[in-house]
Amino acid sequence: MATNFMERHRKLERNVTLLGVLAFAAVTVGGIVEIAPLFWIDNTIEKVQGMRPYTPLEQAGRDIYVREGCYVCHSQMIRPFRDEVERYGHYSLAAESMYDHPFQWGSKRTGPDLARVGGKYSDEWHVQHLTDPRSVVPESIMPTYGFLKEQPLDQGDMVPALQTLERVGVPYTKDEIAAANEDLKAQADPDADHAAFLKHYPGATARDFDGDPKRLTEMDALVAYLQVLGTMVDVNAPAAQEHLAKEKGR
Ligand code: HEC
Repeated sequence: MATNFMERHRKLERNVTLLGVLAFAAVTVGGIVEIAPLFWIDNTIEKVQGMRPYTPLEQAGRDIYVREGCYVCHSQMIRPFRDEVERYGHYSLAAESMYDHPFQWGSKRTGPDLARVGGKYSDEWHVQHLTDPRSVVPESIMPTYGFLKEQPLDQGDMVPALQTLERVGVPYTKDEIAAANEDLKAQADPDADHAAFLKHYPGATARDFDGDPKRLTEMDALVAYLQVLGTMVDVNAPAAQEHLAKEKGR
């Protein structure tokens, strides 16, 4: 029996065509088993409660973050290791970056991870730190970004920006896209009517972020973005991790 099998296997090993055909068949079956299910499931990322798309102001801040290359020194992904979790907080969930295009996980940490920096400091601290990092952290080697406070926020029209994100899968509604520019202004203006804005982005906060309520600057947008990082999902609620949000779209 065993010799019979070895005999047949020897034939197979010496016939390169037959070996090629059978190897191809084996790889094909393995490939189909792995790939085919992806065509029947809606998403490979489990949704968690609280996750929402960025507001137009946060998204504008995110664009500035990318433009200024903050990712060159900062990662945005807390790995599930004890040293990281004790320093930065709960490890990052896949769903927490599901609306990030492009994602900012990064592979370089000259500075600390920023995935959960939201709410860790006050807005004033961020403005001071970005303007002159050495004034709050004497040993810091971070560059200064004070010019952001002088630069008026000129992201152009946010409507096509949200439209593009919608096209790649971020669930902005038609209303939210149409109101993008108004929502951007409303979030940075503490005196504006926030009803429509909050209806579009439940749980978002509207205020003056850069300490100068008279002007809408790039600093407003960047601080709004930093302050929301890692705050959307209540990671300590067991429901956030186990519960698959039932409603479609959000
Ligand atoms: C050359 C590398 C470098 C670049 C570029 C850089 N940073 Fe930093 N950043 C650091 C270092 C180092 C620290 C730690 C010392 C400190 O707090 O200043 C830091 C700290 C921070 C902190 C405080 C984090 C915490 O948990 O204490 C924030 C927020 C931050 N950076 C935001 C930014 C933003 C936003 C940008 C882009 C506009 C940026 N950084 C660009 C190096 C950098």
